[in-house]
Amino acid sequence: MRNGKNGFLIPFFAYRKIRFEDDQMETTQLEKDNKHWSGRFGFIMAVVGSAVGLGNIWRFPYVAGQQGGAIFLFVYIVMVATIGFLLMSAEITFGRNAHANIVDAFQKRHKRWTFVGYLSILVAFLIVSYYSVIGGWITRYLGGYIIGGGFVSGGDYGGVFQDFSTHPYLPIIFNLVFLGACTFILAFGVKKGIEKVSKIMMPALFVMIVFVAVVALTMDGALEGVKFFLIPDWERITQSGGVGGIIVAAMGQAFFSLSVGIGINATYGAYLKKDINIPKNTAYICGFDTFVALVAGFAILPAVFSVGLEPNAGPGLIFGSLPAVFHQLGGFGIAVAIIFFVLILFAAITSCISLLEVMIVFVEEKFKFKRVLATLTVCGVILITSTLVSLSQCGYFGVDLLEVFDLATTNFLMPVCAILMCVYIGYVWKIRKAADELTFGFQNQNGFWVRVWEIGVKYVVPLMVFVIFIFGIVGMFTK
Ligand code: PHE
Repeated sequence: MRNGKNGFLIPFFAYRKIRFEDDQMETTQLEKDNKHWSGRFGFIMAVVGSAVGLGNIWRFPYVAGQQGGAIFLFVYIVMVATIGFLLMSAEITFGRNAHANIVDAFQKRHKRWTFVGYLSILVAFLIVSYYSVIGGWITRYLGGYIIGGGFVSGGDYGGVFQDFSTHPYLPIIFNLVFLGACTFILAFGVKKGIEKVSKIMMPALFVMIVFVAVVALTMDGALEGVKFFLIPDWERITQSGGVGGIIVAAMGQAFFSLSVGIGINATYGAYLKKDINIPKNTAYICGFDTFVALVAGFAILPAVFSVGLEPNAGPGLIFGSLPAVFHQLGGFGIAVAIIFFVLILFAAITSCISLLEVMIVFVEEKFKFKRVLATLTVCGVILITSTLVSLSQCGYFGVDLLEVFDLATTNFLMPVCAILMCVYIGYVWKIRKAADELTFGFQNQNGFWVRVWEIGVKYVVPLMVFVIFIFGIVGMFTK
């Protein structure tokens, strides 16, 4: 027996029938709007596309190295398998049930919570404003390797990157090209745009990254990089703030890498039909994202070590150091470089479109704009903000907006959004109803793992994220 809409207890089979009819109506509406995935594979590739990005390819290998290699790796995997998995599945469940843009999704049940929807939009807005600039840099490097010129001819690669990224208008032009490509894809909508592109780009990325890793591992001196990545270095751990520091870093990395705490998974979940097993598919997505991060670690760190470079932070690693590696490989190196920049471009495009989609679908539904107009509006605004981020690299405003936006989102806004999301699901929507949605169509909706999921989302995740979040803030100020 279950509680019916008007509070009466109704037999379970009748309850299932009502839900089934509701779901059929929702599905028809989704199909009419062309806002749905064609199937399971399309959905998985789109979410993987959002998750696999610069976070996996440049951020993960570097952070892993800095935080003591193997130990970080272990903590990171635990984070992904617990907090990451729970948050992602909860977000997708929330989205599938709400079938709306992230603001309306929160507003539906409780007007007071609308602000969390807007907060999610703000996070996406800040991230995409700098992500697109890096996308422009990648486009420039890819073009450089295809056409030839200063980027490939040897010498001071760090200096070449510095000159380019602080140039007053060149990065802006490439940002325009990158953002233009994303706009074009997004204008085609969910199935014909996002899904189609993800279904091609993600499998291709997978093949290319494995190839690059094999090349890197066969280079002389690559073993150093593998050691750096895999063997725990206690000295580094104490330098970077001890075990507490590792946990904070691992959580930040897991959030960023899985794109949780922004409303993306909820937005993509809103385009799902009911026939998808959320826990199982979330597990695949988390596994795949982690796998790509590991392979990227095996591709980049050995390569960097083999040419005697120290891995350093941020985009500089890809743009300032890797060209030296490609150069050392001679003519073959140019081919490897092109493959590498194509794969990282794919990773950046599919992540960027997911960030933009959160805003586009909101504008579409809120202002009743047509898809193309909503896409142009959102991308137009981002063109302005990303231009400002790009200009801040030249030191015009006295602050590096890329760094500020990155820190504000990864360390602060994403954990806050994640906690609010859990509190909303656990207490406002009610965890039992969320679990019903999660397990829709399951034989047993009350099994042991469902209970674990409920307790995890309602109590454990918000508490853990809160504790780690406070720890991180305290650490930031005491440093
Ligand atoms: N997950 C993406 C990455 O690993 C980054 C991202 C973060 C994308 C947040 C969307 C939202 O690069």
